[in-house]
Order: sequence, then C-alpha cells, then structure tokens
Amino acid sequence: MPPLSRSGRFKKGPDADVRRYSESISFDWRLYRQDIAGSIAHATMLAKTGIITKRDCAQIIRGLRQIERQIEQGKFRWREELEDVHMNIEAALTARVPAAAKLHTARSRNDQVATDLRLWVMDEIQALDARIQNLQLALVHLAKRTRSKSGLLPIPGYTHLQRAQPVLAAHHLLAYVEMLERDRDRFSDCALRANVCPLGSGAMAGTSLPIDRALTAKLLGFEKPSDNSMDAVGDRDFAAEFLFAAALTGIHLSRLAEDFILWSSSEFGFITIGDSHTTGSSLMPQKKNPDVAELARGKSGRLIGNLVSLLTMLKGLPMTYNRDMQEDKEPLFDSADTLDTSLTVFACMIQATRFNAAACLKAVTDPGLLATEVADHLVRHGVPFRQAHHAVGKAVKLAETGKMTLSDLTPKQWRDIHPSFGKDIARALTLTEMFRSRDRLPGSPGQHQVEAQIKRWKKQLS
Ligand code: ARG
Repeated sequence: MPPLSRSGRFKKGPDADVRRYSESISFDWRLYRQDIAGSIAHATMLAKTGIITKRDCAQIIRGLRQIERQIEQGKFRWREELEDVHMNIEAALTARVPAAAKLHTARSRNDQVATDLRLWVMDEIQALDARIQNLQLALVHLAKRTRSKSGLLPIPGYTHLQRAQPVLAAHHLLAYVEMLERDRDRFSDCALRANVCPLGSGAMAGTSLPIDRALTAKLLGFEKPSDNSMDAVGDRDFAAEFLFAAALTGIHLSRLAEDFILWSSSEFGFITIGDSHTTGSSLMPQKKNPDVAELARGKSGRLIGNLVSLLTMLKGLPMTYNRDMQEDKEPLFDSADTLDTSLTVFACMIQATRFNAAACLKAVTDPGLLATEVADHLVRHGVPFRQAHHAVGKAVKLAETGKMTLSDLTPKQWRDIHPSFGKDIARALTLTEMFRSRDRLPGSPGQHQVEAQIKRWKKQLS
C-alpha cells in the first residue's frame, strides 16, 4: 500500500533508503493515544458541524477505539512504509471502515502532529510532577531522620568545597526541595503555554470548510484554540520549554548526586547508601560505589544535549512547518524517559540512605567553622565588622601556627589580638550558640526554623 501522503501526482513510492531515512514510526508510535484522542475529537466536530454524517462519525470512532485497544494489547503491526503514527492509524482505520476516508477532512498532519505533541507534553508534565514531588518527599523524610542527641544533626556547610559554617543536614537537604519545587513550577508554567489547540490550522493556512475549532479544543480539554495558523504548525517553543525544565531539573539532580557521592566517600563518611543502591567493583573487593548517583549526574548531560538539539534544529527554519521538525520527538521522549527513571531511582536511593551522626559531628566540631560567629561577637561589642573580620583572621593564624584550634586560645591571647574580646568569647565558640542565634532568623539553619520548614514541606507535599 502506498503511503496515504502520496497523492495522484506520484507514479511510484519512495526509494527504500528514503523510506527508512524519513520514517518516524519507530519512535512516534508513542503518540498513538494522543493521536487517537485528537482524531476522535476531530471526527466528533466534523459530525456536529454537518461536514460528515453522524453514522460516519460513529464508525470512525468505533474503529479508532478498536485500533487503540489493539495497540495497547501489543497486537497492532506498525508499518515503516506508512511513515508515521498518524498514517499508520489512518491506514488501519481505512482497512476497517469506509468512512475513514473522510477523517482527514479539514486537517493536515501539520496541525495533527502539533496537537498530538502538545497533548503528550501536557500528559508528561503531569507524570513528571508526581515524580518530582515523590523525590521531594523522600528528601523531607530523610531530613526528618537526620537526628543526633541534641536535635537535628549538624554538618559543616561548604563554599568552594571548603568548610565554611555549621548548618543542619536537614537544611542542606531542604535546599534541594526548594530547587525541585521551582522545577515543578517551571513545568506547570510550560503546560500553561502548551495548552492551546492547533487543530484547524490545517497545513498552515486553516481551511475553507465550516469547522468549529472551539469545539475540538474543548473536546480535547485544551484551554483554547490557537490564534495564528502559521504559528500553531510552525513552532515548537513549548517543546523547548519542556526540555529546558527537564534539563534544569536534571542539573539539580546532578548536584544532589554530587553531594551524595562526596558524602558517601571515606573522606567525608557523612552518609551510607544502602546496598540496594550501590554496586561493587569487579576487581577491588572493598569497593562500594554510588553508581545510582553517578548515573543521575551523568544523565544530566543528555538532558542538556536534548535541549540543545531541539533549539539547533529550530534555529533558522523558515515559516512554517518543515520536515526538520520531525526531529523534535526523540529528544523529547528521551528527556522525559531519562528524567522519569532518574527521579524514581533517586527517590528510592534516598530512602535507602542514612546519615552517620558520629562522622558528621566530628566534622562539624572544627572550631574554625565558628570564626564568623566570633567576628559577629565583636560586632555585638561595638567593633565595626571589617575590623572584627581582620581580628578574627589574626586569631585563626595564631591558632594555626601553634597547631591549635580557635577554642584553644587563652583569654589573654584573645585580648592581645583585640581588647574587645571578653570572657564571653567561649560562648560564641559553641555550636549550641551558633544554632540558637539562627533560631529567629527565617531561612536560616536554626533548629526551630528547620523543624518548621520540615513541617511545612510535609504538609505542602502530602
Ligand atoms: N511525522 C511528521 C512529523 O513528525 C508528521 C508531519 C508531517 N507533515 C508533512 N507535511 N510531511 O513532523
């Protein structure tokens, strides 16, 4: 059977190489559900407007439903020579019901594929939203489990990967919950703009037939029909937005992965990832590798690549539809699948992870981490911050040369550095004081602040 797209002007079918080169059925079969929904809505509208009869419409819909069932049961044979999902389904319908020849009235594959893809992106966003939320919940639960005897577990916070100031492990984990929340926002924002129905735009200049675009849009659950037929078939910006949201989510995941990889190393030892989510080495018997985290980190490369690939494909395309645009699908499908599995496996890995309180406490009791607190202490005694900063720097140097820590300095040594260092300096050099002083500052790693954030997230996410 020649492809349905070859009109009477063609004497023969395409060259076999061309057929293989241009087919998209090997990947776009995934759009079958959206394609069938689109056709059912289109046929319903054609009947309502009197363009086809109610009988034809009923036949078409029945046939499409049967085809959908066949596909779902794995009994449908996709044929490369029929090029894509649209023509495979239409050809199968044609073989079933005579009315099938009327389905493509007032429609082009250009508005059809744009519609299918928008529906697919919106469905996928819903699925991914649930996955991201699930990962957020796993992080919140892990945050809740980071406890030591005196409350939530402290760890060193880092800048430049150098120990900076004490924080709570839960605060660190919740930072990712915030990032992931913005990722969800970005996806739902993308869905808002994807939510426009191209059907009725035809190949690019609409149709002369009296169709009802508002009805088709409504039947498919779209917010509204598109306002410009050329734009509707000629752009894929919604796909680019989806890929960007996916890439950024992937990057957030990659950074979280990097923290887990560092934390699980012998150098840090802050966490242990369960056996279920680590692998051994084929050579070194002692090894336990954080492969899941490494793969999540590595896969962010594909997510970025897919975005770049789509943008590059679109760049320089003349109005309106060009066959180049068939290349939009594989990056989209790949990013959706990659992100989906990464999010799922990562959430399970988090459930299988526990913090090692002793190692965290050992690292966080490095008094150097409290140098900023000591500077603030001088500020409270009326010393301008820059002077305080300088004085504490001297104290750090003095401690370093004597192979001591800040808490080993004597009151006299402190006073020699700056007369405003009083006896209460010892208090400034405690973790308890550090966290107490953060307790009334929103957004800070004080015990109460972070407990409140955990509560808020638990409520918000469940
Ligand atoms: N398989 C095509 C795609 O994905 C469908 C649209 C084809 N349109 C056309 N005029 N050849 O872009």
